[in-house]
Amino acid sequence: MRGARIIGTGRYLPSRVVPNVELENYMDTSDEWIQQRTGIKERRYVQEGESSATMGAEAARKALEKAGLSPEDVDFVVFATLSPDYFFPGCGVLVQDMLGLREVGALDVRNQCSGFIYALQVAESLVKVGRYDHVLVIGAEVHSTGLDFSTEGRDVTVIFGDGAGAVVVGPSDPGEGILGTWTHSEGKYAKQLWCEAPSSACNPRISEEMLRERRHFPYMNGRYVFTHAVKRFSEVISEALEECGYALEDLDLLIPHQANLRISQAVAKNLGLSEEKVFSNIQKYGNTTAASIPIALDECVEEGRVSRGDLVCLASFGSGFTWASALVRW
Ligand code: COA
Repeated sequence: MRGARIIGTGRYLPSRVVPNVELENYMDTSDEWIQQRTGIKERRYVQEGESSATMGAEAARKALEKAGLSPEDVDFVVFATLSPDYFFPGCGVLVQDMLGLREVGALDVRNQCSGFIYALQVAESLVKVGRYDHVLVIGAEVHSTGLDFSTEGRDVTVIFGDGAGAVVVGPSDPGEGILGTWTHSEGKYAKQLWCEAPSSACNPRISEEMLRERRHFPYMNGRYVFTHAVKRFSEVISEALEECGYALEDLDLLIPHQANLRISQAVAKNLGLSEEKVFSNIQKYGNTTAASIPIALDECVEEGRVSRGDLVCLASFGSGFTWASALVRW
């Protein structure tokens, strides 16, 4: 079987910057509290005309450019988001149209913060078995239009931001590129981090009562999520290294999903990994869910934090609960 490699990366961040002090105007919070508990200084919010699909398409355009490919070269699209433009159809087909791709397959993945690695696993498999040569993997989120900006929603609202990232996965020699991907879930914790409404399990899907009860806003059991995240991040990183026969010392860079700076620090401490080996950009963007890893990857490439031959681990934890990792020989 041939290998699969990330051959291009791209990102798109909306130009509207929202610093912590702006949130102080809407809810009882403070720049100090947010920075202390999460590391976040500012995030980006979409403006009129920007959506998960439009941002995803822009990020994908850049990833294709960096891969030296044109839209006709794309064989398949995997789009990860928890905030699709519409209930249906998904964002993958919208991007197929926006980029003028051939009539290729377009799949949407709904695995929240782990969505990008789940999507990467699909791309990796399709390329490795020789089904397709170039798979576009996109992670994009719009949180800002669905957050509770009253004090009641402050624990969740201050964390999340909007943005998109994309990669192109193409063929490589066996043993280089994506060495493997590991995905997990534990659905019994679905309601510890979720957004219930609108819901097809309710008739009507959204009602005055649901709106009054704020069931259309995300709910998060913060402490619970924190504890599980530290445990699962650590486990799934170790799983990737062990299965590929590497030790922690072999790792050049860990790019974790940007959930919360304190989670990344706790994971590094737990594993015994020096913090210089852990990439972080949550200060600028907050938690952008499925978009956070491809945005981080693109910045790492641009800043020279990863170079050919480096051993890089991507890891995530989020709603579901879901958690995942990918080990890449860059
Ligand atoms: N601004 C100011 N105060 C806030 C606040 C905000 N944005 N959000 C919550 N608080 C208050 C709480 O109401 C509470 O007040 P009280 O003591 O008067 O009741 C106090 O701060 C402490 O709240 P608590 O929830 O115990 O804080 P915490 O140390 O657990 O931090 C999180 C809260 C959300 C930052 C933390 O639990 C966390 O990071 N969880 C994981 C979140 C995450 O990463 N989610 C994404 C996963 S992919």
